[in-house]
Amino acid sequence: MSREAFVNGEYTDYSKSYVHIEDRGYQFADGVYEVFAILDSKIVDFEGHIKRLYRSLKELRINSPIQKKSYKFHIKEIIKRNIIKDGNVYLQITRGVASRDFKFPENSKSSIVIIGKNIPSNYYNDNFSKGINVKTTKDIRWKRVDIKSLNLLPPVLAKQYAVDNNCAEAWLLDEEGYITEGSSSNAWIVKNKTVITRPTSFSILNGITRTTLIKSLMKVGYKLAERKFNLRDIKDADEAFITSATQFVMPVTKVNNIKIGNGNVGEFGQKDMPLTL
Ligand code: PDD
Repeated sequence: MSREAFVNGEYTDYSKSYVHIEDRGYQFADGVYEVFAILDSKIVDFEGHIKRLYRSLKELRINSPIQKKSYKFHIKEIIKRNIIKDGNVYLQITRGVASRDFKFPENSKSSIVIIGKNIPSNYYNDNFSKGINVKTTKDIRWKRVDIKSLNLLPPVLAKQYAVDNNCAEAWLLDEEGYITEGSSSNAWIVKNKTVITRPTSFSILNGITRTTLIKSLMKVGYKLAERKFNLRDIKDADEAFITSATQFVMPVTKVNNIKIGNGNVGEFGQKDMPLTL
């Protein structure tokens, strides 16, 4: 089946979809993005992702290249044209094309790209049932990671470091040894029926899955504590997990080879958490 992408106002054959060599996303990572989970051909948490996209654009003073109401139409069109059942849609906006110069160009038009892909619904099943291993490493990212920008080299290096150590995710440590978040997910531990995660600030991305999960916690009999945690807290935790639009709530059973709880996916990790479709 041929895939299609949405590139600057047009639907194009995926294999022939290109952006300009002087796009500021390519030269400066001068742009923002969102990843939407697709389940049963429906967009998960659409409103939350669009709200965060507009916040990121505003923080970087990039104009939206299309009207707010058009986002849903184009994402649905990508789902339809690529026959996506379960998978995700990636949407990227950059400051546009201009001759290379650090300062903002005066008349550039923002670029937009939307692509989607199918991911088999059982893709993460093994990880869901066994839990993943996590490796900690220093958080060397810039100081505004609350903006979902394209500036992703530090998380790329952190993820690769985790993979090189037979782990699926890296947890990033701040200067004081507290976990900020994962390289591409939010980080959580569970202790005595309380789920603990770092409060939102400039040091973490305010995850949409994080927000949805927080809203559901009471219903499943768990309390929330938004506070920092470190390796000592992790060693003492009953459970641990990560959240993201691609992996939802994914149990963590080892951090730096230390077993969490009894080393198996615990009670919280086995729960089916509600999603906003
Ligand atoms: N990443 N923290 C970071 C640094 C992330 O990159 C992500 C998501 C999250 C979770 O946010 P959300 O629940 O809104 O997906 C937290 C996406 C999936 C990615 O870059 O592919």
